[in-house]
Amino acid sequence: MSTKSAQSDSANPSKAVFGSLQAAGLTLDLAYQGISQPEWASLFTKADQIGLKGQITELLTGGLVNTSEHRPALHTTLRDLNKNPMLYKGNDVMPAIAEVWQRMEGLCNKWVGVTDLIHIGIGGSDFGPRLAVQALAHSANKPNRGMRVHFAANVDSAELSHILERAQANSTKVLIVSKSFSTSETMMNAKTIINWFKAKNLTSSQIQNSLFAVTCNVKAAESFGIQADNIFPFWDWVGGRFSVWSAVGLPIALQYGFETFKQFLSGANAMDQHFASTPISHNLPVLLALALYHQQTKHHSKAYAVLPYAHALELLPFWLQQLDMESNGKSTDRQGKYVKTSSPIVFGSAGTNAQHSYFQLLHQGPEIIPVDFIMVKEAMSSLPEAKEHHNALLANCLAQAQALAHGKESSDPNLSYAGKRPSNLIALPKLDAYHLGALLALYEHRAFSLGALWNLNPFDQPGVELGKVLARPIEEALKGSQPNDEGFDSITSARINYLKQ
Ligand code: F6P
Repeated sequence: MSTKSAQSDSANPSKAVFGSLQAAGLTLDLAYQGISQPEWASLFTKADQIGLKGQITELLTGGLVNTSEHRPALHTTLRDLNKNPMLYKGNDVMPAIAEVWQRMEGLCNKWVGVTDLIHIGIGGSDFGPRLAVQALAHSANKPNRGMRVHFAANVDSAELSHILERAQANSTKVLIVSKSFSTSETMMNAKTIINWFKAKNLTSSQIQNSLFAVTCNVKAAESFGIQADNIFPFWDWVGGRFSVWSAVGLPIALQYGFETFKQFLSGANAMDQHFASTPISHNLPVLLALALYHQQTKHHSKAYAVLPYAHALELLPFWLQQLDMESNGKSTDRQGKYVKTSSPIVFGSAGTNAQHSYFQLLHQGPEIIPVDFIMVKEAMSSLPEAKEHHNALLANCLAQAQALAHGKESSDPNLSYAGKRPSNLIALPKLDAYHLGALLALYEHRAFSLGALWNLNPFDQPGVELGKVLARPIEEALKGSQPNDEGFDSITSARINYLKQ
C-alpha cells in the first residue's frame, strides 16, 4: 500500500498531480471533476461535520454499523491475512475465518479431473465471483486449472440449460451458494441440477460427492442433503453484496489457485488500510464519495456511469449496481426519517462498446451524468496486435474524458457540446488479483462513505422483500388449471389468465 502526498495540493484534489493520489497500486485522478478549491473545502467540512473519520473507524473495528439489524459489517475482517483479532459478541471471529481458508486451500489441492464447476447463486452470491473469475481469465501468466466455470443465477431455465448442454456430468462439481440457503431461484436451480445428475445415471453417492454449499445457514444446507464436509460456512455479519471475500469466492481459488485468492484478499486489505489511516483529503474512497455527493447536490445528478476500458471488467457494472443501489437506494435514513436523495442510478458497460450506445446522452443530454472511467495500463491479450489495440482502447478512454470535460462550441446548437461533464479516472497498472481486490474494496468503501454522507444504513435491503412475497401465490396460481379469479388485483389477474390460456 502506498499513499503519496508530496506533490499533491491537499486543499484541492482536482489539482493533484497525476499519480499523487494512490492507494494499493491504484491511481485516482479527479482533475476533470470540475470541483473548485472552495467546493472541496466545503466538502471536507461536510465530512468533518458528519464525523466521517469516526464512522470509518466504527466500520473497521466492528461497531454496530448495520443499525437496523443491530450488527457489525465485518467483511474487511475476511481479507485480513494477518489474522488480527476481531470480536463479535465477545468472541474472536478470526479462528473460524482461518479454518475456512484452510479448508478452501485443501479443496483447491484435492480437486483433480474436474471438467466443470457450476456455481449456483444469485445477487451477492453471484456477481462478485462471476466478475472475478471472468476478469482474471484475461490476466497474463496466471495459473489456471482449466476447468470450465459456469455461473447460473437466473430462475429462467434458459441459463442453466445452456450450461448443462456443455457440462460433463461425471466430472462436474456444483457449488450451491446462498447466505440464507432459502433463495427461491437458487434452490430451484439446485434441485434441477440434482435431477440432471440423476438423468445422467449418477448414483446417489456420486451426486453427494459432487455437491458443495457455501452458506450462513449450515443447518438448511445439511437438510438439503449436502454432506457436512462439503459445506463452507460464512456468517451473518457479512452482507451478501460484500461476501466475495468469504468462501463465496471459492470459484476464484478453485480456478486460479489459493495463492491468487490470497492476492485478491491482500489487494482489498491494502485498500482497507488506506481507508482506515489516510486523511480525508487523500483518502481515495472518501474523495470518490465526496465528488459524487457534490455532483448529486450541485447538478442534481440522478445517475452515474461506470465505464471500464477493459473488456475483462465487463461485469463490473453489474456488481456495482447491487453494491450501490441495494446498499444506498433508500428513502429513510438511519433514524427512520424520510430522505429525498440516496444512491444515484448506476449503469455502465465496457468501453469502447459503450461509446456506440449511450455516449450521445452523456455528451449532449440535458442531464449531467458523472462518469467513472477505469483504465488498465497493461494490455490483456497475447495477440501480436495487442499493443496496437490497447493504444486505441486507451486513446478512446482519454479522449472521451477530455471531450466530456471541455466540450466544443458551435453556432449550430445541434453540433455543440456543452462540456463541464465531470469524470474520474481510476488507473490500474495491470488487472491481476491484487489490483482487482483493491478496486472492489475501493468501491465498497465509497458506498459506505456515500451512505454516511446521506446518513443511510448501507447494510440492509428491506426493499427487496415485497416482490418476493407476492411472487409465491402467483407461482401457485400459474400451476393451477383453473382460471384465476381471486386474490390478485384485476391487472395481475388478467395477466395470470393470459399466461394460463
Ligand atoms: O436480492 C436480495 C438478496 O437478499 C441479496 O441481498 C442477496 O445478495 C441475494 O438476495 C441472494 O441471497 P442469498 O445469498 O441468501 O441466496
